[in-house]
Amino acid sequence: MLLVPFGMPALRRGVFSCARVPSVFFRPLSRVLPLPVLTALLLALCLVLPGAALAGHGDEAPRKDGILLVAFGTTVEEARPALANIERLVRAAHPDAEIRWAWTARQARASLINEGKPAASPQQALANMAEEGFTHVAVQSFHTITGAEFHGLMATAKAMEGLPKGLTRITVGLPLLGSTDDAESLAVALKSLLPKERKPGDAVIFMGHGNPHHPAALGYPAMQYYLSKVDPLFFISVVEGSPSFDDVTAALAARKVRTAWLVPMMSVAGDHAHNDMAGDDPESLASLLRERGITPRPVLRGTASAEPVVAIWLRHLDAALKQLDH
Ligand code: CO
Repeated sequence: MLLVPFGMPALRRGVFSCARVPSVFFRPLSRVLPLPVLTALLLALCLVLPGAALAGHGDEAPRKDGILLVAFGTTVEEARPALANIERLVRAAHPDAEIRWAWTARQARASLINEGKPAASPQQALANMAEEGFTHVAVQSFHTITGAEFHGLMATAKAMEGLPKGLTRITVGLPLLGSTDDAESLAVALKSLLPKERKPGDAVIFMGHGNPHHPAALGYPAMQYYLSKVDPLFFISVVEGSPSFDDVTAALAARKVRTAWLVPMMSVAGDHAHNDMAGDDPESLASLLRERGITPRPVLRGTASAEPVVAIWLRHLDAALKQLDH
């Protein structure tokens, strides 16, 4: 399955919240009432409350569908057209859809707000959509791995689904690397980011973000397998974790590579691409390559600027939209 759906949350939430009541009220109440009586009372309350809610204002809100696009965001202004490219392609694929945006990075939101532009967190965007009368929202993650940002987004979506007068149904589309099929497609799609000037014998290093602590970061070394199938001089390296910059520069030196193209494997060419990948800092990927006599040729384009890469995310959005009806 290309998607993580959340089923019957209203029912589950009702059960959970009632189950949580005793921990809040038990101590003071248990001094007055014997435990079996108290348990029976709480159980009765759980059974009565949903009925009381149903007896309210009757009519359900009419269904209104929407799409929420969610990216990490960036503080680098010239990186933003890549994100605009996502919206252009989503609108082309879903011309009648109502589309909203949210950013998972607080700093990215802050820099937009500083420029006088709107910038919502996923939580804020979903609350706003509920206020606008949306009932069903397909959330699409424009992250790269199913890492911390994606898990945070899933937790938010789960918490925001089924709230009173809120959104009835929220589904979340997987990020770029949601399966081995995605990894295989991505290895091919990444070729579209390379300039024509790349000569035979030039290596290419795709630089991901990485995360030394998250299990989903296993996706980076897995990508190396698919990249090697596409081109024996394609490599992956990450800012944090494995394969490290040292790993990849050593691998290139062993192959007597003279030139390496550096391409971010991140949705935008933001701070990490400009500094950790292409910057002059002695620890940057470009500097480490130069130290070994390899000429770095940075390509400051994010994956969101490449239509074949965005197509993978769009497949996940299609799955999320389909899941709205299940
Ligand atoms: Co970072």
